[in-house]
Amino acid sequence: MVTGASSGIGQVIAIECAKMGANIIATGRNEERLNETLNQLEGSGHQMIIADMSVQEDINALVEQCPVLDGLVHNAGTAVGKPASYVKLEDLQYVYQTNVYGVALLTKGLLRKKKMAKGSSIVFNSSISTYISAAGWSVYASSKAAINAYMRTCALELGTKGIRCNSVVPGMVETDIINSLFFTDEGNQSSMDQYPLGRYGKPADIAYGIIYLLSDASTWVTGTELVIDGGRMLK
Ligand SMILES: NC(=O)c1ccc[n+]([C@@H]2O[C@H](COP(=O)([O-])OP(=O)(O)OC[C@H]3O[C@@H](n4cnc5c(N)ncnc54)[C@H](OP(=O)(O)O)[C@@H]3O)[C@@H](O)[C@H]2O)c1
Repeated sequence: MVTGASSGIGQVIAIECAKMGANIIATGRNEERLNETLNQLEGSGHQMIIADMSVQEDINALVEQCPVLDGLVHNAGTAVGKPASYVKLEDLQYVYQTNVYGVALLTKGLLRKKKMAKGSSIVFNSSISTYISAAGWSVYASSKAAINAYMRTCALELGTKGIRCNSVVPGMVETDIINSLFFTDEGNQSSMDQYPLGRYGKPADIAYGIIYLLSDASTWVTGTELVIDGGRMLK
């Protein structure tokens, strides 16, 4: 299951996992874009389930409808950018409901209904904003830090069930999000100059790391954060 599979990184995770032979459950809110994802998946047996991760009833219905899973990618995410002194309760609720509460409640629902198979893998999509601060992103960065802490605790609790939990920690990835971040080309370029490998990530760069964490190649890996950032954290 890939949450937020209707665009950006999530869509490419679904496409690349299907290439590896996975049966995908693609979920998100936008039916039209989820259909676009479904149409690009190799193989058969894929399914889409519309669900809003900020709505408990949708999460319950998603859990009910899905089969027992071998892999889960918590990818759905949203952001609000504004200085800390302007952050309102509504901003916190908006971001945390999807990025934190939705992740915890979906995980809980799947576990309680025994929908995570023994030997399955849960991957959380975090962000280097957890480690590299950028003015205006306190709400988003703190939500992604919360996910890493949540992931580690789940890894501890679920180890005896043979369920692994890990995060990917991406640097800036070329999706629609980037267009909304920079007002000028110069601003974009000076940000890109901070990347030793000379470019932002592509969604597939993140998908390949997630495939590793989902696959049996990582059967002795749990509770870790895999940084995929073109070297950005070195600066
Ligand atoms: N792009 C980057 O530079 C970057 C870097 C680090 C981490 N990330 C993380 O990567 C993940 C994907 O981001 P992206 O860059 O691919 O952005 P994106 O193209 O905007 O994708 C966000 C996805 O999340 C889904 N989503 C948002 N709110 C939702 C909700 N309440 N319920 C269900 N689905 C919801 C959206 O689906 P619908 O519109 O269909 O609901 C969409 O498929 C996010 O968690 C983001 O924080 C991105």
